Amino acid sequence: MGSLTTSPAWRALAAHAREQEGVHLRDAFARDPGRFEQMSCEAAGLFLDYSKNRIDGRGVGLLMDLARDRGVAAARDAMFSGHRINNTEGRAVFHVALRNRSDRPMAVDGDDVMPRVRGVLARMGRFAEAVREGAWLGHSGEAITDVVNIGIGGSDLGPAMVCQALAAAGHPRLTMHFVSNVDGDHLAGVLQRVRPETTLFVIASKTFTTIETMTNAASARAWFLGRFGNESAIARHFVAVSTHAERVAAFGIDPANMFEFWDWVGGRYSLWSAVGLPIALSIGQAGFEALLDGAYALDRHFVDAPLERNLPVILGLLGVWNRNFLGAASLCVAPYAQALARLPAYLQQLEMESTGKSVARDGGAVSVGSCPVIWGEPGTNGQHAFFQLLHQGTDLIPVDFIVARHSPSGLADHHRLLLANCLAQSKALMVGKSAEEVRAELGACGVEGVAREALVPHRVFPGNRPSNTLVLEDLSPRSIGALIALYEHKVFVQSVIWGVNAFDQWGVELGKEIATGLAAELGGGPPGDHDASTRGLIERLRPEPS
Ligand code: F6P
Repeated sequence: MGSLTTSPAWRALAAHAREQEGVHLRDAFARDPGRFEQMSCEAAGLFLDYSKNRIDGRGVGLLMDLARDRGVAAARDAMFSGHRINNTEGRAVFHVALRNRSDRPMAVDGDDVMPRVRGVLARMGRFAEAVREGAWLGHSGEAITDVVNIGIGGSDLGPAMVCQALAAAGHPRLTMHFVSNVDGDHLAGVLQRVRPETTLFVIASKTFTTIETMTNAASARAWFLGRFGNESAIARHFVAVSTHAERVAAFGIDPANMFEFWDWVGGRYSLWSAVGLPIALSIGQAGFEALLDGAYALDRHFVDAPLERNLPVILGLLGVWNRNFLGAASLCVAPYAQALARLPAYLQQLEMESTGKSVARDGGAVSVGSCPVIWGEPGTNGQHAFFQLLHQGTDLIPVDFIVARHSPSGLADHHRLLLANCLAQSKALMVGKSAEEVRAELGACGVEGVAREALVPHRVFPGNRPSNTLVLEDLSPRSIGALIALYEHKVFVQSVIWGVNAFDQWGVELGKEIATGLAAELGGGPPGDHDASTRGLIERLRPEPS
């Protein structure tokens, strides 16, 4: 495949972007009454309105040419066929098999993984239901009341985000806790609120070597044994989720209490695997399987729909357009749903760990800007914090608005206001407010002359700021499953365009290596060879000799 930026598709997009420079979205809407119908699309219970992007039908067509030119469909098919597309780790990328809800075999190197996938899913279900029904008892015979998931990154963010999103359907006896940070405050804060007799710890780590998780798990184990004093009690209170049975056993958890997954499941793509155990514990196995159903529906859409009507393809390509042709270096994710409060954090790992790369699959340099900075907060809170910058700041920041038609709260007035705010923000970002409109408004309030003219520039909104609006039917497991799968595949599409491997994360290794050495040094070990800043900070932070 030739270079990205010299390809005819890329050049045509660059020329189109130049032609479109002076076009305001307000005028684009005024000119084309069919814009909303043409630039919206629906699948798997998700509706995407992308008409408030700074692009027209021809631009979208050129983006589709780019997708064809870069081989998006072939790359997608390679992933769904179990090819080892994670080239730097020599692994298949097969999280889609975890939510294959058909009878179709899915194989890696000719080995159908589906019997193992179904086997673990069934074990998870039996275990989750036993805990929920009160049939799985703690060592002293009491039912479990608290589940503490200890994991970080992909072994934390997915289940934490989904459990929060679906908390309204959570089991009334079970409180879910998520401990990720190696800062002891995190674990200590949770341990203060739970009793060992009624607590189930889920130690989730793909590798079972991650220092934060191992440290928290060891401290949780020590706390448990300190209160309980009985090694044999561990079996009723600690389970593991991992790909690594020997390390789980070495830690002291019986592999019979381990829920397995496989190296073809990337950490940030793992919530569909046994990593989703907290979700099954909270909302039940049927709920967890509904989440898988939603993701599966989106997978089928991604595979079957033509590129022009394919939600992840459209979303991914619009991201490329905004990043590379409009120069947007960040993307704000604004879920208008308090239940989705952790979605931006989840997407930060999904997107930035996947495509935050400057080296291409073949080892060459990525020739264009890759992943934008992903950030956000739920609406309406964000409106009272950073929306000022979105409307009038110096940078162009596209927004993904996410909203559900129905709210689980049952407070209809609140939901009406929430929806109104969501639509108001995307409209305001798009239309803006001209100097003439501001003058008329101020004039109507009796502000005239010099005083008025001094105020006008401050009250002008340039508008023309792009956004997508994603409408979920509801906040059900199925809808949320589809939403997450949509973003996963969007990231995949972008990785193909930018030519990066979305499934490795070498960029996290250096800090880990240095931290290991520094931890020894801070604990009194021999001094390492450091720059003056690091040396000075070690001196300042080293514990006082006792
Ligand atoms: O931060 C790096 C990372 O490897 C993530 O990709 C992963 O999700 C996280 O650490 C946790 O890894 P593990 O599940 O192996 O503990």
